[in-house]
Amino acid sequence: MATKKQARRVAIVDGLRTPFAKSGTVLKDQSALDLGSAVVSELIARAGINGSDVDRLVFGTVVQSVDSPNIGREIVLAGPLPDSVDAYSVTRACATSTQSFADAAQAILLGDIDIAIAGGAESLSKPPITYSDRFVDILMEANGAKDVQGKARAFAKVRPRDLTPHAPAIAERSTSETMGDSAEKMAKENGITREAQDEFALRSHAKAIEAQEAGIFDDEVMPYPIPPRYKDTVEGDTIPRADSTIEKLASLKPVFDRKYGSVTAANSSPLTDGAAALLLMDEAVAKALGYTPKAYLRSYAFAAVDPNWQLLMGPALATPIALDRAGMTLDDIDIIDMHEAFSAQILSNTQAFASDSFARERLGRDKAIGEIDDARFNIYGGSISLGHPFGATGARQLMTMANELERRGGGTALVTQCAAGGIGAAVILER
Ligand SMILES: CC(C)(COP(=O)(O)OP(=O)(O)OC[C@H]1O[C@@H](n2cnc3c(N)ncnc32)[C@H](O)[C@@H]1OP(=O)(O)O)[C@@H](O)C(=O)NCCC(=O)NCCS
Repeated sequence: MATKKQARRVAIVDGLRTPFAKSGTVLKDQSALDLGSAVVSELIARAGINGSDVDRLVFGTVVQSVDSPNIGREIVLAGPLPDSVDAYSVTRACATSTQSFADAAQAILLGDIDIAIAGGAESLSKPPITYSDRFVDILMEANGAKDVQGKARAFAKVRPRDLTPHAPAIAERSTSETMGDSAEKMAKENGITREAQDEFALRSHAKAIEAQEAGIFDDEVMPYPIPPRYKDTVEGDTIPRADSTIEKLASLKPVFDRKYGSVTAANSSPLTDGAAALLLMDEAVAKALGYTPKAYLRSYAFAAVDPNWQLLMGPALATPIALDRAGMTLDDIDIIDMHEAFSAQILSNTQAFASDSFARERLGRDKAIGEIDDARFNIYGGSISLGHPFGATGARQLMTMANELERRGGGTALVTQCAAGGIGAAVILER
């Protein structure tokens, strides 16, 4: 329980993630809970903190498991922290672990807690599969039947078409557009060419490979031994590709609008399994415990837009609010990490950042947010090349930026995401 209620400041003390892997591959048998528990256990061990000193864990997933919908509390009960640690779960689409971070940060700022773990996990390898209402009614009837004859009577109603499974749609409920459809719409409305999308995807992979080779992720990504035999270990991210060429990317067929589209498997973020977690403390508590924080929270903001317009413009909506709250302009930001849902979404947002007319029409401001300097932007790749486990991406970005501020010995960073529902998130870190 916090001891002091004034002049509090949220410090990112440490962070860690599992390797990120394309769904259905090396992490396919790990649930979000497995991934989340593993990363939290390893983070605690590496940070050298007593589990009993952690006041709260806030965690999230987007595609929730039916077995463990409150993944936060289940992680605690799975063992890495004493049962007495308070925990709960949040969900905010692709900004889920930014919300975990914001929740934990608010509680630290309020003086409710001193030390928190915040993060998220996703397994898209085994999503919860559902069936038609009719089939569910039959199953419920069979489940409630008092005897074998009753169960048999219920199952006798099953028709082959009832067995058609429904995987969770990565689509907007309100518009029925998939995320990929939204990216296509943004490419068309904002004039983002296929060539520009492929070039950005290639850039993302090149930056991620460079970062891997430079050891940037060595302390961020834990090796993940696969239970139950722990004989095979996933040592690092498996998605970045050194073999991509612009010719190969140009040869891929569009996947969402097969006839007239430009969004392909290569210029989209892939469906991904993984987890990430951050250790947060009040600054004074961190220092009293002997930690040197990597970075501090300066400001954050969430924003939202009508999904019928351009669903994935969240960064251009949330960033100016976070900048205002920080008393900064884009020129004051040294490094930017913008979630790469699709090249079309990234390029639409960077275009909007630089546009006076976007500022006037959509933000009610006189001047553009500002031109993004390529040298400061997604310097170690992003969700297209590293992968995008929905619940873990925000924590991944915050960790990489906090580590970069530590490496640089100071500066400011902007972390921002778009998310389903037309949501945007932005966080400004400083050191
Ligand atoms: C786009 C999507 C449908 C593609 O899925 P997929 O078909 O499983 O994609 P794959 O990884 O198999 O790639 C298809 C092909 O493109 C190739 N490819 C993909 N990326 C490539 C790259 N960077 N360089 C070269 N080739 C690439 C693959 O090798 C594969 O080729 P093959 O058919 O010869 O094996 C899927 O990743 C998806 O749904 N992404 C969007 C997720 C989403 O909506 N996220 C929300 C964002 S907020």
